[in-house]
Amino acid sequence: MTYENFVVEMEDGVALVRINRPQALNALTTALLLEFDTVLDAIEASDASAVILTGEGKAFVAGADIAEMKNLNAEAGRDFGALGSRIFRRLELFRLPVIAAVNGYALGGGCELAMACDIRIASDKAKFGQPEVGLGIIPGFSGTQRLPRLVGASRAKELIFTGEMVSAGDALAMGLVSRVVAPETLVPTCRELAAKIRKNAPLAVRYAKAAINGGLDSTVETGMALERDLFGLCFATGDQKEGMTAFVEKRTPVFSGM
Ligand code: COA
Repeated sequence: MTYENFVVEMEDGVALVRINRPQALNALTTALLLEFDTVLDAIEASDASAVILTGEGKAFVAGADIAEMKNLNAEAGRDFGALGSRIFRRLELFRLPVIAAVNGYALGGGCELAMACDIRIASDKAKFGQPEVGLGIIPGFSGTQRLPRLVGASRAKELIFTGEMVSAGDALAMGLVSRVVAPETLVPTCRELAAKIRKNAPLAVRYAKAAINGGLDSTVETGMALERDLFGLCFATGDQKEGMTAFVEKRTPVFSGM
């Protein structure tokens, strides 16, 4: 399938999604965000077991499109924020693991997009930041909510109030990314990670994601109750029987995803 703003390659059960608007550093327009929904629909209908999201050119995503936002009124601004937040939330709750391969600038909506992914791996060329206040706005695709949850309120406020960019190394130190690698090894590293995840029971990975996300959104008691239910549900799967039988029989499990 061909897209206006994306290039999607399927290989070894991994959907590699490249945001492809390099002439504007992959800035997020309404059209791009709506097309993202279509990309996710297609991946959902495919047999992919993981998604890698990266940017074409020197940026991951340099933010929401400033030219498009410039003349918005309050109502249209709210709608634009709601659209980005809805799509990023869809990605966060996506049934497959989503790995952000942050190749370059991840600013504003780009940093927010990376934060909506499950795992962030950065090239040593990547730069992160939430520069919105310098444009007279605040992060609008849920950055004010995800950033403090990821790095703590003090660092989140420092980043958001100053609008300054930080290096990939600084992002690693504050826990915004989990690894920094050389640019040429970025996608291969993410593919290796996806392959390691793929070896495991798909439903168990999905339930683990749901338990982590659900717990982060609630009290520890509610999170523990959710974990308990999903843990129980694992025992209704064939893959639990297969995983444990294979262990006892000292062989590699063959998971069916059921
Ligand atoms: N929205 C719309 N267009 C953008 C954009 C954005 N967020 N970020 C970059 N672009 C466009 C530039 O306008 C330029 O277009 P042009 O060639 O038609 O003039 C093109 O992308 C290349 O960007 P440029 O600024 O020339 O690259 P640079 O290497 O000199 O600087 C950045 C890179 C990322 C530092 C700079 O582009 C920037 O500050 N972008 C905005 C970041 C931002 O504030 N994001 C949050 C938005 S809420």
